[in-house]
Amino acid sequence: MKTETVKTTPYDDQKPGTSGLRKKVTVFQQPNYLENFVQSIFNSLDDFRGQKLVIGGDGRYFNRQAIQIIIKMAVANGFGELIIGQGGLLSTPAASHIIRKYQAFGGIILSASHNPGGPSEDFGIKYNVSNGGPAPEKFTDALYENSKTIAEYRIARIDDIDLDTVGTQQIADIDIKIIDPVDDYAQLMTEIFDFDLLKTSISSGYLSLCFDAMHAITGPYAKRILEEMLGAEPGSVINAEPKEDFGGGHPDPNMAHAKELTKRMFSENAPVFGAASDGDGDRNMIMGAGFFVTPSDSLAVIAANANLIPAYKKGLKGVARSMPTSQAVDRVAKARNLPCYETPTGWKYFGNLLDAGKITLCGEESFGTGSDHVREKDGLWAVLFWLNMIARKRQPVADIVHQHWQEFGRDIYCRHDYEAVDADKANAIFDHLRGLLADLPNKTFKGYSVAFADEFSYTDPVDQSVSHRQGIRVGFSDGSRIVFRLSGTGTVGATLRIYLEKFEPDVDKQDQDAQQALADLIEIAEQLCEVKKRTGRTSPDVIT
Ligand code: G1P
Ligand code: ZN
Repeated sequence: MKTETVKTTPYDDQKPGTSGLRKKVTVFQQPNYLENFVQSIFNSLDDFRGQKLVIGGDGRYFNRQAIQIIIKMAVANGFGELIIGQGGLLSTPAASHIIRKYQAFGGIILSASHNPGGPSEDFGIKYNVSNGGPAPEKFTDALYENSKTIAEYRIARIDDIDLDTVGTQQIADIDIKIIDPVDDYAQLMTEIFDFDLLKTSISSGYLSLCFDAMHAITGPYAKRILEEMLGAEPGSVINAEPKEDFGGGHPDPNMAHAKELTKRMFSENAPVFGAASDGDGDRNMIMGAGFFVTPSDSLAVIAANANLIPAYKKGLKGVARSMPTSQAVDRVAKARNLPCYETPTGWKYFGNLLDAGKITLCGEESFGTGSDHVREKDGLWAVLFWLNMIARKRQPVADIVHQHWQEFGRDIYCRHDYEAVDADKANAIFDHLRGLLADLPNKTFKGYSVAFADEFSYTDPVDQSVSHRQGIRVGFSDGSRIVFRLSGTGTVGATLRIYLEKFEPDVDKQDQDAQQALADLIEIAEQLCEVKKRTGRTSPDVIT
């Protein structure tokens, strides 16, 4: 085997964001751009010689080319074994599981999650560590520093690897294993959920379902688990074939983008349960007949009902949510005497809490829910959790959620996104907000009195590392909140996210439309951040 050291010059824009490096495909296609980043990953790792590396992606455009380059570089850099999903495919949660199960040193996951795919769309790459979770900030900071000074990379001059045949190929003394992407993950799910109960509930006709894979990675996983193993009617999984451009769609599981599912769930003969997942399979949207469950509520409901699921019936160690996620799960934690943590946005902050055994369940408002079974959020896991819960409770989704609100109160919630905002204007909005913070407490806006206003900082309770500037919070005396954040995953300009939340304990007022219930808070948010005034926008680009 011939290994070559190639001279290169640094790019200055390889700083990983909330979830790895995400850029347009055309950016990744620049000479040595991917190679620089991959070598910077390897240069930031301690001794990995002879160790295992997992490689897989969500199948989007450029996945296969990128994987061939990464294989050749991993071989040249001295890994001892590569474990790769057949066809270059691995969902993000499956990759996390495989890293853990086979005690790999780490994994490289290729995905831009819910962003569109195709030659002029997005691509992404991130490194996960041996616990199966995204690398911590300390690592991504070191990686970025390395990327700014990189002068050469190493690559093996070997033929492309056949990614489509399951089995082991040997290059020099390195094993290159192509594995079925679904097998290990499906096995894990049988260890967590009551598959026998699910099979009977489905075959008896009680549990009808529709799962929208959005032409993304969960297609083969959902087909295998829901249709083949659990016996859901063929066709229950829609848009099941993964495509490089996600069929031209935007693989983000919300009602705006999962249109076919949403239409079905609001039709007359809607199934009992509906769900969708995103490009790389870590997000989920949960629906019932004529009903949408907000991700924040979903997290709270599963925390409250975890005792119904075999793997969690012994009880939960604690729960965590990202800061902008509604406080619904906090109410469950309080009632059940469970520790509850508030972390910055991004799954990586849950890793330490999970590893240290401080929490069992965690989630984010951005359609992410998960547990200690892997170190990523997990779309199909959430789907199976809800199915198992429904099979046990034998209640429609809407009834389960209404009953939950009755018991704990409802945190009426929504998020407004302003996309592709000029970066300078976005920064000016945050400077302006920072300037307001000191004077906000005790001021009253439309009857809402400010209890606290701050810029969120997080001290990790396990390793004491501190993350600053994680979003601006304005909390009101009745428990309502407004949060402002800039996205760390966008690829064009800045995305301003405004998170709005109002607590409603009165059962008679719980069944309101969120936009109406939040109208005053929406106005207060504008008064504070002036996004419309400063950008000339008249409304958010996306409301979820
Ligand atoms: C978004 C979500 C965040 C999630 C991340 C990766 O990040 O808001 O909760 O962890 O995608 O899926 P953001 O663009 O807000 O930085
Ligand atoms: Zn994702």
